[in-house]
Amino acid sequence: MAYKAPRGTVDILPAQSGKWQELEQLLRTICANYNVKEIRTPIFEHTELFNRAVGDTTDVVSKEMYTFEDRKGRSMTLRPEGTAGIARAYVENKLYGMPEKLQKVYYMGPMFRYERPQNGRQREFHQFGVEMLGVESPYVDVECMLMAVTVVKALGLKNIQLHINTLGDQESRDAYREALQNHFQPVLNELCHDCQVRYEKNPLRILDCKVDKNHPMMKTAPKTIDYLTDNAKAHFEKVCALLDDLEIDYVVDPNLVRGLDYYSHTVFEIISDDPKLGAGSTVGGGGRYNGLVEELGGPQTPGVGFAFGMERLMIALGDDHKDEEGLDVYIMPLGSEAKDLAMQIMTMLRANGFTCDMDQCDRGLKGQFKSADRFHAHFSMIIGDEEVQKEVVNMKCNHTKEQVEVPLENIVEFIENHYEGDHDHE
Ligand code: HAM
Repeated sequence: MAYKAPRGTVDILPAQSGKWQELEQLLRTICANYNVKEIRTPIFEHTELFNRAVGDTTDVVSKEMYTFEDRKGRSMTLRPEGTAGIARAYVENKLYGMPEKLQKVYYMGPMFRYERPQNGRQREFHQFGVEMLGVESPYVDVECMLMAVTVVKALGLKNIQLHINTLGDQESRDAYREALQNHFQPVLNELCHDCQVRYEKNPLRILDCKVDKNHPMMKTAPKTIDYLTDNAKAHFEKVCALLDDLEIDYVVDPNLVRGLDYYSHTVFEIISDDPKLGAGSTVGGGGRYNGLVEELGGPQTPGVGFAFGMERLMIALGDDHKDEEGLDVYIMPLGSEAKDLAMQIMTMLRANGFTCDMDQCDRGLKGQFKSADRFHAHFSMIIGDEEVQKEVVNMKCNHTKEQVEVPLENIVEFIENHYEGDHDHE
């Protein structure tokens, strides 16, 4: 039987991993810039965590989770998103008791959702996310949005829009829930079975139903913004004012409700019109979640965060990535004695911090030069019988094409001197 990777998963091969590392490095640099520290939480958690945090009536929980029983019969789930696990870790490790009240963390890693795979949508995918816990302030909402915008700008993504909306506080959401029920009540029997359940349990979820999305009552549904308490309204107005002050472009999108239950107040999405992704594709999204930590048994703690789909960032980045820092030295031994010596030199060069490799296939010069080329080697080091006898190597600089004989004991000095005079090399 020929094995294939499971549907909706992909291998990231050596030819692509350089571009992934570049993306990860850039994200880590932005996090350092924003004083956000990394957190790493388990890839699987107790299923109940996601039911609680993300919500039973969301598509993510009710249709898309990879859930299994472990050997002791406990229900576990591969994480479909990062926020729930981080809120759990925050409570479990009592991060609310840290001297810094605002805890800012980021994460990168695989997430799992049983969705129909297509361009930019996989069953195993990767998210880069940020969570800021502990302070309820529109300034922190805006810090999150700024960070998300910084990411897309740093990646040079074009045709990007920041969409924002507010779901308000609990009181606003109760009033809105009632308004939605009144709105959909007359057409309830025209909606799909799921929506009829949502109507009772969580009418907000009707708005992101994939089956009923074209029902005429969807377009005329009440907007969250019309049901805000004074407090919720003031919070949102301050968010907008801060974005205006910072000259961050945004669109208030009253239909934006997001697909997870923990949100309150500000929600936002970064939407790309890049044709590579398909028009109107969401590259990232997030929002405030003031009830989540308490829901998971912690003290009342506000939070806000966002996550990007890293595959979507990679697609939007395109293929113009130049892979490879080249090797410093590619060693080309000719014959078995030369090979013994090559192994010694390679070990010594690596110990001195140079990136280095050698031919292990006993090929002729031509084949070895091809490898030196493929590895973008700065130097080719040729060692034949004569060189072994004379205790020298032949160093060919692949940029200047100069070839010099260098005594074994001078190799490191030779490379260092050469680099010092070469302004192209960093
Ligand atoms: P989300 O909107 O469910 O939010 O996912 C965030 C991003 O993950 C999406 O915008 C998309 O780019 C990417 N994504 C989601 N599903 C897939 C998939 N099947 N394949 C590829 N990419 C995908 C969250 O997960 C929240 N935890 C974000 C958040 C953090 N809110 C507050 N803090």
